[in-house]
Amino acid sequence: MPVQAIRWQDGQLFIIDQTLLPTEHIEIRLNTLGEVWEAIKILRIRGAPAIGICAAFGVVVGVKEKAPSDVESAFEVAQDAADYLATSRPTAVNLFKATGRMKVTADANQGASSTDAFIQALEAEAIAVFDEDQAACKAMGDYGASLIQDGDGVLTHCNTGALVTALNGTALAAMYRAHELGKQFKVYADETRPLLQGARLTAWELMQAGIDVTLICDNAAAQVMREGRIQLAIVGADRIAANGDTANKIGTYGVAVLAKAHDIPFYIAAPMSTFDHELESGDGIPIEQRDPEEVTHGFGRQTAPDNCPVYNPAFDVTPASLIAGIVTEKGILRPPYTESIAAAR
Ligand code: MRU
Repeated sequence: MPVQAIRWQDGQLFIIDQTLLPTEHIEIRLNTLGEVWEAIKILRIRGAPAIGICAAFGVVVGVKEKAPSDVESAFEVAQDAADYLATSRPTAVNLFKATGRMKVTADANQGASSTDAFIQALEAEAIAVFDEDQAACKAMGDYGASLIQDGDGVLTHCNTGALVTALNGTALAAMYRAHELGKQFKVYADETRPLLQGARLTAWELMQAGIDVTLICDNAAAQVMREGRIQLAIVGADRIAANGDTANKIGTYGVAVLAKAHDIPFYIAAPMSTFDHELESGDGIPIEQRDPEEVTHGFGRQTAPDNCPVYNPAFDVTPASLIAGIVTEKGILRPPYTESIAAAR
């Protein structure tokens, strides 16, 4: 396991503060519901699976913080905590699935014999969310690695590794596994403007693991493809609609279009917890809009004129027609996605 992004130990929640990477590798404890919400909101913890896992544990943190005197009030606190955490970010469906699971568990345990028993049930559910994600990463790694051949150049966008899951990632799990199997390949990591998850996190993770990674500016991807350096593009997802349309970090759609233009297969890797079967297409996926300062004052320095208008969507939607396959823990789903996604459900 490369790094452990989320740790639940002795009933306490720890995360690596990703806003500090790559210069500082620091684990922090999240003691309150407010701290968990803030950590998700400002991307101390980020990436679809990790957001869901952290929110699940966050409900337990929230109930413990309030120290309710009876099960009835513990139930109310759990429901409110889950609802509150669900307001932290809008796009990754894992957040809503995980908080939804915690609410169902709270509901099912209204008859618990004590508040301790009630909290234990919540804790067990959050641990199940974590464990299921670990198993999914392992399977995605195996399936995803089969796509990587000796000599390949593999392009990725954003960060989809150990930092965003309970084990070693989604798209990066394929790379970790291929590396383990002794395959020789080269990763090109888009830096991923404006928050530089590719530069700060993917390059850091892969370098730690001894995987050959080269950082490129987002706008270099076309040229790098044209030079014949890329044989495969693989990225993660924040929400996948029933027809395969996929929301992921802003810039992903551009990579998919470029891959198509250069005849390079473009894959998504995501666990089943990232599928939103209720949404017919990507048109219904809510796209998070983030602070203009992320663009005008990236990491402290002003890089645009005062009061410059900014449009800063954090995600985009890649149409299913551009996706060669979706690597999941249940195998690699292929078009037509409406059928393959429904069958994998
Ligand atoms: O804004 P972020 O950093 O949370 O965005 C993360 C991504 O877009 C990832 O690619 C996605 O969540 C997949 S993580 C396995």
